[in-house]
Amino acid sequence: MKKVIVTGGAGFIGSNYVRYIYKERPDWEITVLDALTYAGNEKNLEGLDKSRVELVVGNICDAELVDKLVKNNDAIIHFAAESHNDNSLKTPWPFVESNIIGTYTLIEAARKHNKRFHHISTDEVYGDLELDDPSKFTVDTPYNPSSPYSSTKAGSDLLVRAWVRSFGLQATISNCSNNYGAYQHVEKMIPRQITNILCGDKLKLYGSGENVRDWIHAEDHSSGVLAILEKGKIGETYLIGANGEKSNLEVFELILKHMGKDQDWLEHVKDRAGHDMRYAIDASKLVNELGWSPKYTDFEEGLKQTIEWYKNNEDWWKPQKQETEEKYAKSGQ
Ligand code: NAD
Ligand code: DAU
Repeated sequence: MKKVIVTGGAGFIGSNYVRYIYKERPDWEITVLDALTYAGNEKNLEGLDKSRVELVVGNICDAELVDKLVKNNDAIIHFAAESHNDNSLKTPWPFVESNIIGTYTLIEAARKHNKRFHHISTDEVYGDLELDDPSKFTVDTPYNPSSPYSSTKAGSDLLVRAWVRSFGLQATISNCSNNYGAYQHVEKMIPRQITNILCGDKLKLYGSGENVRDWIHAEDHSSGVLAILEKGKIGETYLIGANGEKSNLEVFELILKHMGKDQDWLEHVKDRAGHDMRYAIDASKLVNELGWSPKYTDFEEGLKQTIEWYKNNEDWWKPQKQETEEKYAKSGQ
């Protein structure tokens, strides 16, 4: 593999992955296919040599464009998706289109040209766990998605599995837990709270705040995906997680502490419809079979670095902030 397509490579995790392989695989040529939706940003790829990283602004549902790019490359690493649960609850259609039809379009081209395909998915396809349940999600957990977002991701996973079995598609799948780090859109929980403080606003907590998410640094997600792309067994699914379970309230308390605010500088806002209670990943298959391990095992330290990034990169997030908060205000969040 020398020539790879990264779909969604101008988004949060996709651009982290592009920077990661740019550094780790200096002989690779990278084509980013990204529609530059509200969540994509060319600035996420700034500083990378254009002779090694080409940005093609286009849609993964555009079969003609996809076919041409896939034919001329060795592998496709597929991050592009509509990714935010709250948006999916207001306007589900773009999720059906990008996540299901987009994935269908890519795997059709990959099977036609017999190319390696890696599909990026989420732990949310498994539904949620109770707070007192000692178990975690494994590759054998039945699918049980809750939201339009997670159900379209589940649908895309099932398409990939069927194309492996019926057509011999050379594909692997990874399902990862909640990512954090630089370049994450301010609609998401951690950047929203950090930038609220930087704008003089209070943090906005959904419901009671007891919901648990299993946090992983985006660079650890990237290293997991590279390990699967290079060493994973065709047809297999791998779960990526770094044992980072924290309640939302615990994360809020850490943000307030590290940004010098009182612990009561928060508002309880309207809860998310169908809000999943807890996610937790058992990544032992990836660790034991492919020798992967996360580098960022101290969440508090990773969070401090993330806070510093948002403090130092106001030019990057400021243009998204007002519109995002106006949307949240309309839904009482
Ligand atoms: P993001 O919303 O930040 O970025 C998505 C990118 O995809 C954007 O650059 C956008 O322009 C592009 N895109 C969307 N629709 C497109 C289309 N039809 N054609 C071409 N490009 C399109 O998302 P993210 O948080 O970086 O998530 C990336 C992937 O990782 C998604 O597949 C998501 O389901 C998965 N994932 C995310 C997390 C997380 O915590 N954020 C965790 C596990 C898995
Ligand atoms: O688990 C992986 C998933 O993680 C990915 O598949 C999704 O693409 C990604 O967006 C993320 O989904 P969540 O819904 O868990 O992330 P979000 O940042 O939207 O919310 C995290 C938690 O924080 C969730 O319990 C809702 C809560 N929340 C969110 C926002 C935006 C708040 O309490 N306040 C907020 O303002």
